Amino acid sequence: MCGIVGYVGNKKAASILYNGLKRLEYRGYDSSGIAVNDGLHIDVVKRKGKLKDLKNEIKNDMNGGTIGIGHTRWATHGQPSDINSHPHSNCKDNFVIVHNGIIENFRQIKDHLIKKGHHFKSETDTEVIAHLLEENNQGNILQALKKTAEQLKGSYAMTILAADEPNRIYAARKDSPLIIGLGENENYIASDIPAFLGETRDFYILEDNEFAVIKKDKVDIYNNNLEQIDKKTHRIDWDPEMAEKQGYEHYMLKEIHEQPDAVRRLMAHRVSQTGINLEELKLDQDFLKRLNKIHIIACGTAYHSALLGKYMLEDLVDLKVETDVASEYRYRKVPIEKDDLVIAVSQSGETSDTLASLRMAKEKGAQILVFTNTRGSSIAREADHLMLLKAGPEISVASTKAYLNMIVAFYIFSIFLAYQKAKISLEEYKKLSTDLIKLPELIEEIIEDSGELIKKRAKKYAESKSAFFIGRHTDYPLAMEGALKLKEISYIHSEAYPAGELKHGALALIEKGVPVVAVAVRKDIFEKTLSNITEVEARQADVTVVVCKGAQEIEDIVDHVIYIPDVNQLFAGALAIIPLQLLAYYTALLKDCDIDQPRNLAKSVTVE
Ligand code: AGP
Repeated sequence: MCGIVGYVGNKKAASILYNGLKRLEYRGYDSSGIAVNDGLHIDVVKRKGKLKDLKNEIKNDMNGGTIGIGHTRWATHGQPSDINSHPHSNCKDNFVIVHNGIIENFRQIKDHLIKKGHHFKSETDTEVIAHLLEENNQGNILQALKKTAEQLKGSYAMTILAADEPNRIYAARKDSPLIIGLGENENYIASDIPAFLGETRDFYILEDNEFAVIKKDKVDIYNNNLEQIDKKTHRIDWDPEMAEKQGYEHYMLKEIHEQPDAVRRLMAHRVSQTGINLEELKLDQDFLKRLNKIHIIACGTAYHSALLGKYMLEDLVDLKVETDVASEYRYRKVPIEKDDLVIAVSQSGETSDTLASLRMAKEKGAQILVFTNTRGSSIAREADHLMLLKAGPEISVASTKAYLNMIVAFYIFSIFLAYQKAKISLEEYKKLSTDLIKLPELIEEIIEDSGELIKKRAKKYAESKSAFFIGRHTDYPLAMEGALKLKEISYIHSEAYPAGELKHGALALIEKGVPVVAVAVRKDIFEKTLSNITEVEARQADVTVVVCKGAQEIEDIVDHVIYIPDVNQLFAGALAIIPLQLLAYYTALLKDCDIDQPRNLAKSVTVE
């Protein structure tokens, strides 16, 4: 959840590290710090707060040192403070470390080290690693690192500077990502690709239980037995500009506007008027014929896409589909048959609970299909079958374009599977594929059309303490996503209900002026949703309805109607979500919230 950067080369490390942290700021941001070795000693600067607070402390490029490591922190152990910020060091300050993850047995290690005379400065779990390294070091730092790693329980991605060896960065990982960027006479290390976007396109992925020694002209990788191993080079296919704001006030707004192109990229080479090409998934025809149950696991927004995917698969393929949030699924005794398919959905590809659920399902013999936006991520690498979402780098913590591509990925996969399993005719198959191709243009239209009305509606929301979102069938997971977007960036309490469920309890909270957003784009159930809208309207709620053009009768019932283009109801969700994203955005803007980096949240949740 935090961000790591490291650099070794001929340039001044301080500004390279700072810029790398800036690009990773979205990952964790209650404090930050960097350490630079100028050849004589390791200088550390760290501060609670935003990166700009750190910038003010970086003086004289930290003596021009050309090797260093940096960190943005999202606190887990010890509150955000200067002292608890990374980097951390041992008693002699000759090992300086930054770390992502959680050391579960840090208390035992700390007690043991205190008895041996070590003095601790911070409340963090990370600091024990630096002291343990000191304790284990018999002159060979790599061996000391391996021994230290063996004593740690939990997850870690760590990079270390050693005062005695000023020309190299040591690194190790387990259950938390680290990638090594390869340059000309300079090399990088980071927890996330965007950290060195623009500096290099080639990188190695460090795997669990591997160690790296990174010098400016050489990167050596070792396995768990400290045998040197060869690594495959990967190439980044994101442009550096894709991760810039490009004139938008916030990444979130930029990413909302990028959605038509994100969907085009997802569909390119996969969807045409003649059908769907998913050869890349390498799914066996016989397996698809036998397949009769799908499990979909994900967290947060990705989970909302999974719920929508469940309805799609049930509708089109007539399959048993189970969905669960990964943090629950991983601890359930879920029966998984060998002919079941498990779909794991994750923007970052690093979400710890999703990864653990995937591994649990794999152990039980399931085949794993992954929808992720991040090539080379842990979840992508553990997939048996992989569909990259191609949304481009998503920087705003609140997911928009990756979510949209997740639901379109479910559309694509459902149509594909329905045809493979002979649940739809060739004619229907072509018609559905053709309808899909029209989506990006319609998404453009709704982004254009809904802005002004939504800005007006946002005023009502900005002054409200809570809001309700309702919908039925596929409109319900959309309502859930609308509620999540609003709460995470505007801090307004918002809840989603299946519209028909309101009268079983939550209707008690509906009174004059309470804002209710009703998603009613699912035509086969529109009349039913309409009854529920009438129920809240009758209690003088302030109702906004998202509906397809052509359902004008709704204007006789409610004052605020947002129309989306009239579209095949199976795909209406891809349009209906746009006004909900914009409503959350403009509400948060009016409340002057930190839209791209909402409090307490991080982009990639790599801890449990
Ligand atoms: C989305 O707006 C959230 N910030 C969050 O719910 C996110 O979707 C969740 O943490 C899952 O992340 P993933 O897609 O990277 O696995």
